[in-house]
Amino acid sequence: MSRGRILSGIQPTGNLHLGNYLGAIRNWVALQQDYECLFCIVDLHAITVWQEPKELLRSTREVAAGMIAAGIDPAANALFVQSHVPAHAQLAWVFNCIARLGWLNRMTQFKDKAGKDKEKASAGLYVYPNLMAADILVYKATHVPVGEDQKQHLELTRDIAQKFNNDYGMNFFPLPEPVIRGPGTRVMSLRDGTKKMSKSDPSDFSRLNMTDTADAIAQKIRKATTDPNPLPDAVAGLEGRPEAENLLSIYAALTDGTLEQAVAETAGWTFSQFKARLTEVAVAVLGPIDAEMARLMADPAEIDRVLARGAAKARSIAEPILAEIYATVGFLPPH
Ligand code: TYM
Repeated sequence: MSRGRILSGIQPTGNLHLGNYLGAIRNWVALQQDYECLFCIVDLHAITVWQEPKELLRSTREVAAGMIAAGIDPAANALFVQSHVPAHAQLAWVFNCIARLGWLNRMTQFKDKAGKDKEKASAGLYVYPNLMAADILVYKATHVPVGEDQKQHLELTRDIAQKFNNDYGMNFFPLPEPVIRGPGTRVMSLRDGTKKMSKSDPSDFSRLNMTDTADAIAQKIRKATTDPNPLPDAVAGLEGRPEAENLLSIYAALTDGTLEQAVAETAGWTFSQFKARLTEVAVAVLGPIDAEMARLMADPAEIDRVLARGAAKARSIAEPILAEIYATVGFLPPH
């Protein structure tokens, strides 16, 4: 029985990493039985910062392959590319006119991504959250499974939905619920436990990529930053030890357990003992996904067919909703 409709998205920029997997994709796989799901590869969002066209194209297929390899069933869900469903960009324009500048000025991701010289950031980067709201609301999605870093964008999505409903005096959009759960919602860099694991970190040693070989995984975990103490026997002992907390959270997520269980299992271990165990688990989880991704990437035409089917399904849901929105706003119907 479907409990609601899920929409979530991922940018096709660079490598998929463990944060994407534990914070998002793995939860999508788990939720797909219970919800009607739409999973979107957000290429329009990607170009808010410069993307090499050939690399964007390759990465779009690779992200699709990664999602399928991780267990997303493209026959049961809509797996598609954002630019294949024009309704996203069409609704985003309406939301550009609903969202207030003051709301966008508070977005921390813009501040992080724009860096020091905001004048040089693209206008697209500034209105990025409005497009994200459109991704979600053009399907009237009720639930949005994401990592912790997307929370503020989802709050803005709810504000936009609420303002639209108020302005037009109707209860048109549901207020979508963020689904942020499990020990992997904020995976940190392997080099610095206070920084998020991210595609844009210049050091590849900061992250485990879904396409890393077993050797690369072992090497990166071996080199991961730690502190000199053995592992604690209670979660409270992780206070002030961000690297230990991060590696244990990763271990908990990879073994489908809680942080408490991970701490209990490894109490008193040295980091070198623990790193050997973490490597085993990471290779066991990521290895088969990588192998399946490589198999899928060998047949790009099949990936394109899967994405075309996904887009057709997504358009069939989005277009009537967009038509209602356009009529509500007072746009003359085209025929
Ligand atoms: P993106 O492409 O940066 O990341 C995709 C998903 O991975 C999660 N994630 C993480 N989770 C835990 N730890 C990390 N270190 C980590 N890094 C990334 C993100 O939270 C996200 O769930 N704006 C979105 C894409 C987007 C979207 C949407 C998401 C566009 N439209 C509509 C949901 C609904 C983004 O840049 O994700």
